Amino acid sequence: MTAHARILEYLTRRIGLDPDSLGASTIAEAIQERMRIVEKPEPNSYREYLETEPAELQKLAERIVVSETWFFRGPGLFDYLARTIRDAVHADPKRIVRVLSIPCSTGEEPYSLAMALQELQVPPNRHVLVGVDLSTQAITTAQRGVYREFAFRQILPAIRARYFRNQETTWTISDAIKSRVQFHTGNLLDPHGISNLGSPFDIVLCRNLLIYFTAETRRQALNQIERLLLPEGLLAVGSAEPSALSGRPFLTVGTGELFLFRYSPSTQPSGVPPRFSEPRRSQGSVILAPVLPRQVTPVAVPLPTPRTAPIPVVGNPVTEPSLDEARLLADAGQLSAAETLCQAVLARTPTAQGYALLGVICHARGRLEEATEALRRALYLEPHHREALIHALTVALAAGQTAQAENLRARLRKLTQEERP
Ligand SMILES: C[S@@+](CC[C@H](N)C(=O)[O-])C[C@H]1O[C@@H](n2cnc3c(N)ncnc32)[C@H](O)[C@@H]1O
Repeated sequence: MTAHARILEYLTRRIGLDPDSLGASTIAEAIQERMRIVEKPEPNSYREYLETEPAELQKLAERIVVSETWFFRGPGLFDYLARTIRDAVHADPKRIVRVLSIPCSTGEEPYSLAMALQELQVPPNRHVLVGVDLSTQAITTAQRGVYREFAFRQILPAIRARYFRNQETTWTISDAIKSRVQFHTGNLLDPHGISNLGSPFDIVLCRNLLIYFTAETRRQALNQIERLLLPEGLLAVGSAEPSALSGRPFLTVGTGELFLFRYSPSTQPSGVPPRFSEPRRSQGSVILAPVLPRQVTPVAVPLPTPRTAPIPVVGNPVTEPSLDEARLLADAGQLSAAETLCQAVLARTPTAQGYALLGVICHARGRLEEATEALRRALYLEPHHREALIHALTVALAAGQTAQAENLRARLRKLTQEERP
């Protein structure tokens, strides 16, 4: 085995990432850069250094991980989980629900759930919300809670205005939301690295990580997740990841489009009560109205104070109401209606936003070819459409199109470099 191949093998074994899913050139560039910085020009001497210096593994990992995330990523999930938690704590006055987001990247995922819980007035002392990521840089950003525009691609202005303070080009999350989440650095594949997380969790979000793992490291990661989860607890995975759970003790929750699963190990003692029941749809689905009247924009729906307005969280700033409505339907899990409406809007006005949304909907409905085509059209109209690029990358990875994924990743990297201040 060459020194380079041994470096890749070591990286995969320690952090799980599949070099093929990340792109050979991305990793080769990162290794070259680290070799230059630590002045180890020989691949063999760098490999030895990497294997004996934990800090170097961390630095190399920081250079190659994909930290892309955004607030309220994933149709309907945060609303569903917040309602589930609200109902669980209402049903049992002593219950504290424990939630783990691993990987949490720069914090948008656990903060989204914290905002959803705040909207439903679930008191902070009724939940523990923990975010863990391999990347120290990502965790530092999460703890600072300061974000740029592209973290808000699926949030409406009302919710951003409520929970963030704007200073020129940045947005700082409110202390009330920040204090609901604890963050730690940790490696999902290293049992010691996450041993400080305390008792098991009722809910684990492990989204958009398994897709970058090999079959073997995916298996190890899922073993770890099963240890972290209470029987009958819930696991959320990314939209391209449910197949990773096949043959494991997980049952689909809801329509399947939440990519949410109940952990039901066959070894559990009989009579273990469900940890959660299906959340009530009535009374305060304030993040997203489950059934949206076609002509009513979300901000117009009255709600009792202090919930000053319902907060639909999917959607870009409202410039095209019908497309926004399609987004809201998608977020409420009504994918068929969302697709019909989106197609109708596109027939009238073809836009990159419209095709990007159509791509997301087709992907969520498991139609990868149509998703690819819609996203291709979005990128034809707007080559720098970040959301379309990210979704196209996710779809390419799900479809096993490695070369296409690498091309999209390079475009995203270039875009991110151009956007840096
Ligand atoms: C694409 S982000 C996903 C963030 C969020 N869950 C989401 O879906 O938006 C992937 C994150 O996984 C982290 N990561 C990679 N390998 C990891 C590991 N072995 N343990 C924990 N986190 C890891 C990376 O640092 C990166 O921030």
